[in-house]
Amino acid sequence: MTETKQNNILETRDVKLWYGQKEALHGINLSFPEKGITALIGPSGSGKSTYLRALNRMHDLEDNITVTGTFDFKGTDIYAPTTDTVELRKRIGMVFQQPNPFPFSIYENVIFGLRLAGVKDKAVLDEAVEKALRQASVWDEVKDDLHKSALGLSGGQQQRVSIARVLATSPDLLLLDEPTSALDPVSSHNIEETLLNLRNDYAMIIVTHSMSQASRLSDRTAFFLSGDLIEVDATKHIFLNPQRQETQDYVSGRFG
Ligand SMILES: Nc1ncnc2c1ncn2[C@@H]1O[C@H](COP(=O)(O)OP(=O)(O)OP(=O)(O)O)[C@@H](O)[C@H]1O
Ligand SMILES: [Mg+2]
Repeated sequence: MTETKQNNILETRDVKLWYGQKEALHGINLSFPEKGITALIGPSGSGKSTYLRALNRMHDLEDNITVTGTFDFKGTDIYAPTTDTVELRKRIGMVFQQPNPFPFSIYENVIFGLRLAGVKDKAVLDEAVEKALRQASVWDEVKDDLHKSALGLSGGQQQRVSIARVLATSPDLLLLDEPTSALDPVSSHNIEETLLNLRNDYAMIIVTHSMSQASRLSDRTAFFLSGDLIEVDATKHIFLNPQRQETQDYVSGRFG
């Protein structure tokens, strides 16, 4: 399970996390290359979301959670006391299971982060909106309705606008926690196409319960079980030739 350390955007070592007294992650060692998609798979409760949320300090927003371990993001320590978490979450953006547009126009959704950062120049904002919506493969569908509420869009369009909102802050890494599980098959397909179009330009980590989605999308797959990382490898190895029996059992549908 040792991987090359070259060109990793993020390296995590011995990551442990406690909800109160309960240890939910037992020492995860996992690193991510600068580009491409890593899928996190594993049964419900195996710790996938817990691990993902630790990567951009989402757990800071809740009480009584303890995180330990090394989180080296491009040479800086994510958990250093000096880390600005707002800035961190722009660099490591997150897309959730439920599309979560704000109750504003599509335009204002996409530039939310830029407005927070104080950008006022309309030409700059207009350009950023178009770029991000194009990257999220939703521009053609919404370009005539930019000033209408994002809440009027379909779930799949909302999810692509959510992706555009994350992309507009120029992140280095995208975290996606079951981004298609609330969507119909056509919308899911559109999101998958969007992610595949982004894979050469971004590092992405996607949690999914769909084996077929993991195999369609990801370059690497990591299998979690009961708060442990069991195995990580090229996706085709995980699905065709896993080294561990637990992985074999899971990917062949014997449990989970
Ligand atoms: N806020 C919380 N407080 C206490 N325990 C929690 C909390 N969130 C998760 N847990 C526990 O931590 C463990 C890992 O949960 P987590 O949500 O990370 O699993 P998961 O792999 O994402 O599951 P799923 O596939 O169902 O989303 C589980 O035992 C869960 O009950
Ligand atoms: Mg989860």
